Amino acid sequence: MPTALVTGATAGIGLAFARRLAADGHSLVLVARDEERLRRTAGELATAHGVHVEVLAADLGDPAGLRRVEQRVADTDRPVDLLVNNAGYRLRTPFLDSSIADEEAMLRLLVVAVLRLSHASGRAMAARGEGAIINVSSVGGFVSMGTYSAAKAWVTNFSEGLSGELAGSGVRVLALCPGYTHTEFHQRGALDVSAVPAALWLEADAVVARALQDLAGDRVLSVPGLTYRLLVVTARLMPRRAMRAIGARVYRRSTRQSYAGRS
Ligand SMILES: NC(=O)c1ccc[n+]([C@@H]2O[C@H](COP(=O)([O-])OP(=O)(O)OC[C@H]3O[C@@H](n4cnc5c(N)ncnc54)[C@H](OP(=O)(O)O)[C@@H]3O)[C@@H](O)[C@H]2O)c1
Repeated sequence: MPTALVTGATAGIGLAFARRLAADGHSLVLVARDEERLRRTAGELATAHGVHVEVLAADLGDPAGLRRVEQRVADTDRPVDLLVNNAGYRLRTPFLDSSIADEEAMLRLLVVAVLRLSHASGRAMAARGEGAIINVSSVGGFVSMGTYSAAKAWVTNFSEGLSGELAGSGVRVLALCPGYTHTEFHQRGALDVSAVPAALWLEADAVVARALQDLAGDRVLSVPGLTYRLLVVTARLMPRRAMRAIGARVYRRSTRQSYAGRS
């Protein structure tokens, strides 16, 4: 039975990954901060699908918590076949209104945790000659909209580079770039999404289904939803100046930026 480790498995896209992978017969290691919620999910999935589910409560923004998860993915006695780097959040405030500590904490989760877990599990998987890593990025990474989108641009670029580095090793890497998805993400960050048209919203189960289909098809970039695939192609073709102007407008609206900003 293959084993998958999913970060951010208490809610949203991570929970959808956990449910789908359990239904497909994977043993699971569930990682997030809320241990009680993780245990509830673990019990439900073990009962429903007869799979082994391990709970690893950890704050991935904290070096000690991250270290424990790194050790788990590197454990050669209990190999992890699929790593899903999914945990994440976005700050509501624009860059200059946030404290620098909050900005740095967000980057520790979105970038440093992805970097370190990819390194530890990539090494273990390459040594075994098999495995896969899914890094949950965002279509926001194709537009310039503050630290969050810059971090997601890093995740996409990093994953594409790592997939090239691991080509022929038996280890696959996928960057999953969802658009607006119904999860706890916007509520937790108190993000204003009132102007987002209904047609742009995705469901977490469909995002996960597309990611796993793309991974099985040896794709490196997964963008769920036709509208978002067109948006990504457009973003790559448009002049940077135009993309910057769009990004600045969306960023100002979603963060309620108070100070004057020029695009
Ligand atoms: N929803 C969207 O519209 C959207 C769009 C594009 C990309 N994404 C990306 O998709 C990923 C999942 O987001 P989501 O929408 O599913 O959000 P969500 O419903 O808010 O779930 C976030 C998960 O991350 C965990 N988490 C947060 N901080 C953590 C930390 N410091 N250490 C460990 N776990 C932590 C949370 O669990 P605990 O609170 O228990 O720790 C939760 O399980 C994120 O990387 C996000 O950037 C989301």
